[in-house]
Amino acid sequence: MYREDTVDTTKRVLELIDTKSLECAASPQRLPSNMFFERERFEQDRQLFARSPHVIAYGSEVKNGCYLTRTIVGVRVLLVRDDDGVLRAFLNACAHRGACVAHGAGEAHRFRCSYHAWCYDQKGQLIARPGAKHFEGIDATTLGLKLLPVSETKGLVVIGLQDDVELADHLDSVSSALAYSFEDYEHLETREFTVNANWKLVVDVNFEGYHFPFLHKNSLYPIATNNASFDLFERHCRWAFPLRSIDKLRSLPEDQWPDRFEGTVVYFLFPSCVLVETPTAAQMIRIYPGSYPGEAHVQLTYMLTGPVSEAERAMHLEGVKFSNALLRDEDFVAAAECQQGFEAGRDSIVMGSNEPLLQHIHRAWDEAIGLKCP
Ligand code: FES
Ligand SMILES: [Fe+2]
Repeated sequence: MYREDTVDTTKRVLELIDTKSLECAASPQRLPSNMFFERERFEQDRQLFARSPHVIAYGSEVKNGCYLTRTIVGVRVLLVRDDDGVLRAFLNACAHRGACVAHGAGEAHRFRCSYHAWCYDQKGQLIARPGAKHFEGIDATTLGLKLLPVSETKGLVVIGLQDDVELADHLDSVSSALAYSFEDYEHLETREFTVNANWKLVVDVNFEGYHFPFLHKNSLYPIATNNASFDLFERHCRWAFPLRSIDKLRSLPEDQWPDRFEGTVVYFLFPSCVLVETPTAAQMIRIYPGSYPGEAHVQLTYMLTGPVSEAERAMHLEGVKFSNALLRDEDFVAAAECQQGFEAGRDSIVMGSNEPLLQHIHRAWDEAIGLKCP
């Protein structure tokens, strides 16, 4: 968020607090709940993921000479930044018989498959293999790793899971709002969770504050309020909810307000990436369909906004514990309960006018698979 954006958002939020009001959608909305459990919709969702661009990492997570692996809806992806700084994305599948050529993340100039030790360079070219004479007649230059579309915008890595996914304009509508230089961020921690709920429910918990005083009564609500601003950027969107400490800004002239919003700014990047910005840290939550409609895979990456001491890093790790517990013990539990309710016959959901981003996000998902939202 740019400074002018921060100032504008702060003014909007302070006014909402003063007037005890909320930014709202025009009306409430009711939708059938079969989108969370029906097989047919699940397959449509999986196809949507196959043809959509995905934000999968901060560029600063993959420094020169380093790599990173991710799994997205069962597709294993290898990101490699070569020594010259060129970032490539590959299918993490060996040309010999498809096994992984890399695991985890780290520094590497060569990628060696653990099955029969075929070896690839940073450009994905096959450079060595045991018993090469047994493969004579097959052109080795056709046995490189399969490239996937990849681009970087505002320090965010965007990839496609198929050759023909067009990435170019994916973040255009939201890029002017994504102001921070994510290139400078430092990696703190990456975690993975499996949640017993449809992936859409796991996204939903991140985009309304209606539940703060209840589900987060003793965790988040004592420090933050739900008097949030909401902004739409075509299929993407953003909300910003304040820390209660935002009140201290009232006694300061505007030009002394901090550059970063006194609270949490949360972006939805279509189709299922959630970017969370706080004054000193950032978090990327990637949410994917699991093996069946009622299962989601969640990956969380925590970053810090600049160089920090060991003591500060330890302090941030305490913050990570707080956020992980909030998600795992409160939001994900609620999402799993909703899933059980729908599977047991609760046949519709209602999104209030006080949940405008849920309405927007569901509309974007439905339109992307050719459904018309009411
Ligand atoms: S599958 Fe990779 S070397 Fe055989
Ligand atoms: Fe929540």
